[in-house]
Amino acid sequence: MTEYESIAATDFKSDTVTTPTPSMLQAMLTATHGDDVYKEDKTTNDLQARVAEMCGKPAGLFVVSGTMGNQICLRAHLHQPPYSILCDYRAHVYTHEAGGLAMLSQAMVTPVHPRNKIYLTAEDVEDYLILGDDIHTAPTRVISLENTLGGIIMPIEEIAKISALARRHGIKIHLDGARLWNAAAETGIPLSEYGQYFDTMSLCISKGLGAPVGTVIVGEPDVLQTANWFRKQAGGGIRQAGLLAAAADVAITEIFPKLKQTHEVTKKLASELEEMGLTFQIPVQTNFIFLDLVKSGIDPAVLIEEGNKLGITIAGARIAIHHQISPGAIEKLKLAVKKSLEISKHRQENGGTNGVKRPEGSLAYGVYDKIVIDH
Ligand SMILES: Cc1ncc(COP(=O)(O)O)c(C=O)c1O
Repeated sequence: MTEYESIAATDFKSDTVTTPTPSMLQAMLTATHGDDVYKEDKTTNDLQARVAEMCGKPAGLFVVSGTMGNQICLRAHLHQPPYSILCDYRAHVYTHEAGGLAMLSQAMVTPVHPRNKIYLTAEDVEDYLILGDDIHTAPTRVISLENTLGGIIMPIEEIAKISALARRHGIKIHLDGARLWNAAAETGIPLSEYGQYFDTMSLCISKGLGAPVGTVIVGEPDVLQTANWFRKQAGGGIRQAGLLAAAADVAITEIFPKLKQTHEVTKKLASELEEMGLTFQIPVQTNFIFLDLVKSGIDPAVLIEEGNKLGITIAGARIAIHHQISPGAIEKLKLAVKKSLEISKHRQENGGTNGVKRPEGSLAYGVYDKIVIDH
């Protein structure tokens, strides 16, 4: 099977659709079969140690998903309510983890809008920290950052400042690094340099890296021991985890070095779409393009339908590129966009509206729209 024969080859909905490669499947055949709940599986232990070392941390823990990784890390940092977690208002931990912070951690959330409309700065964070012992408040106990967020790379200098601020106030700092791989691949900054600024980080292996399952969280052994408790409680103890860890290990070796190439493909596509008159909600820096469908005059329903007609899957405003997207699918995407523009223009010229509505429903494909619309 070549990478373009995967069912993901024509799917622009997310980088999570990537499928295991032949070498991942091969590695699963030779994985060890120890019971990971007893910490007896060598393949899993090796993977945890490898990711921890890459991140400059003493310990790692393999978990089933990015959501579990984030939620159990944050829970492990929190001790006695009332307390709150400060994050970007678009953060996955806040908007897309099924209310986990309220349900699992009993935490208030302080969602902050970045002033620059792109990424949080230390100034933004400082303005919204809840400090002191005023009994009316829920003090900030954790700052949770996300890198990349919507494909945007958070500058390491800003991370350093926010981390210093957190540490000055005895606040824990977590990173949702589901796509930290993309940030590291694009900037050339090693994971360990990012790692020094966080108490815990969660890195997904099943997104752009293409493993079928898995996230590794990293941090100090005592925090991970507590997180492991919450993993078990959530039913996340995996017995023969080595089968999954083996695929994840290959994903790091094989696909991590290809991410930069994926970003080049994304940026080339973005500049071609720009030439066609499209605008974007946020800058294109890694593997996502967020189309501004309202400004570009495209009805999302038309775009989705034109994609379907050509045999490609487009979810709406967000175009996700991954290593298995085929060159042919990119050409079809451009055709679908061109056709959608023509249809919308035709409707307008014929006295009707162009049918463009603000995307509703799933935040996944519309949320960044708010950056443009809310002032
Ligand atoms: C930034 C970010 N963090 C966390 C997650 C959660 O990962 P999972 O779907 O494995 O729970 C996602 C999922 O897409 C994500 O985009």
